[in-house]
Amino acid sequence: MNIKKKAFITGVTGQDGSYLAELLVKKGYDVVGLDRRCSERDYWRLGETRNKIKIIEGDLMEYESLRRIIETEKPDEIYNLAAQSHVGSSFKTPLTTLDMTGKSVWILLEIIRAVDQKIKIYQASTSELFGGDPGTEPQNEKTPFNPHSPYAIAKLAAFHMIKLYRESYGIFACNGILFNHESPRRGEDFVTRKITIAVARIKAGKQEVLELGNMDAKRDWGFAGDYVEVMYEMLQQDKADDYVISTGETHTVREFVEESFRVAGYEIVWEGKDEKEIGKDKKTGKVLVRINPEFFRPGEVPLLLGDNSKAKKVLGWTPKVTFKKLAKMMMEDDLEKVEKGLL
Ligand code: NAP
Ligand code: GDD
Repeated sequence: MNIKKKAFITGVTGQDGSYLAELLVKKGYDVVGLDRRCSERDYWRLGETRNKIKIIEGDLMEYESLRRIIETEKPDEIYNLAAQSHVGSSFKTPLTTLDMTGKSVWILLEIIRAVDQKIKIYQASTSELFGGDPGTEPQNEKTPFNPHSPYAIAKLAAFHMIKLYRESYGIFACNGILFNHESPRRGEDFVTRKITIAVARIKAGKQEVLELGNMDAKRDWGFAGDYVEVMYEMLQQDKADDYVISTGETHTVREFVEESFRVAGYEIVWEGKDEKEIGKDKKTGKVLVRINPEFFRPGEVPLLLGDNSKAKKVLGWTPKVTFKKLAKMMMEDDLEKVEKGLL
């Protein structure tokens, strides 16, 4: 008899949580998702999956609520995706970020240790751990960590706790060191989605200009739908381990701007330097992009480019969507949303 597996997803209302819930439901899992109370929730990312999973109220920061859920639901696998996930915000709320993004992982691990050490756990670790200084690329599992933000420092603590509990207590605990991954479900304050929304609104005459911070930063951007597959794969292996997940391509923020405008039918030409840099519509000469220093961060990660050979070799994983396809997918979705009056 095939016994249904059960997964507990923290962060199920977020970008990755929604794709992962969808995937695990398709694989026949019972899925339980953690949801913290908020004033209004429409579960737009989950769509129809909302009715196929069980949502339980609780909070990442509360031992008692998490323990109650884990004791009652008895999951086989926990996917810990919840976090304060915005790097820029972590400079404004460093202590909350340390609690939500770092300490919460201790809480989960302690609960697993106390309740059932056979529960497997996936931790949403990050390429931010590397710090991305030029010369360190391509980053792989052996690249030294050099975090540049409160967010990355909190995730670094979490990374080591996962490793420690794996090595000290034999808990099946994995870190997925994921490079940036995006989608039409990406939060609106991450740079790719901020760009595609702005371009769609500019095209519809609803917005004048797109304001950004550091456009020289380089990121290895993949598609969230591809990346959740590998979260699942990590927990199906015989041995728990840590893996870099990336596309192996890197592009500047400026290139993402150019590509998004291109999909929407514009060609951007650049003028000026540093804070005075502007992007103009080649056809009309109208300024469509400018720098606003408000979006610069006190600490920056200049260059991320991942080497995913270990994941390819051990997990048999390769990303299907890379830069151009990703920008097109996000851009077309936001053009449609603007047309429907949703943005
Ligand atoms: P996201 O869209 O920001 O989702 C974060 C989720 O965490 C949301 O569901 C949020 O709930 C939940 N959450 C935050 N604080 C909570 C709390 N105190 N209690 C319960 N839930 C809480 O992030 P994502 O892009 O899906 O990323 C998922 C994870 O992967 C995060 O840990 C992130 O740091 C990590 N990561 C992401 C990337 C990437 O490029 N996307 C790369 C590497 C690592 P609300 O809906 O209530 O806000
Ligand atoms: N958000 C934002 N807004 N970023 C901007 C802007 C802007 O207006 N202008 C320039 N940037 C630059 C940032 O300074 C950064 O170098 C780059 O765009 C990407 O920023 P984000 O999209 O906010 O993502 P991130 O790379 O800082 O962090 C994301 O990826 C990490 C993995 O590397 C998040 O998803 C993290 O949770 C994740 O761990």
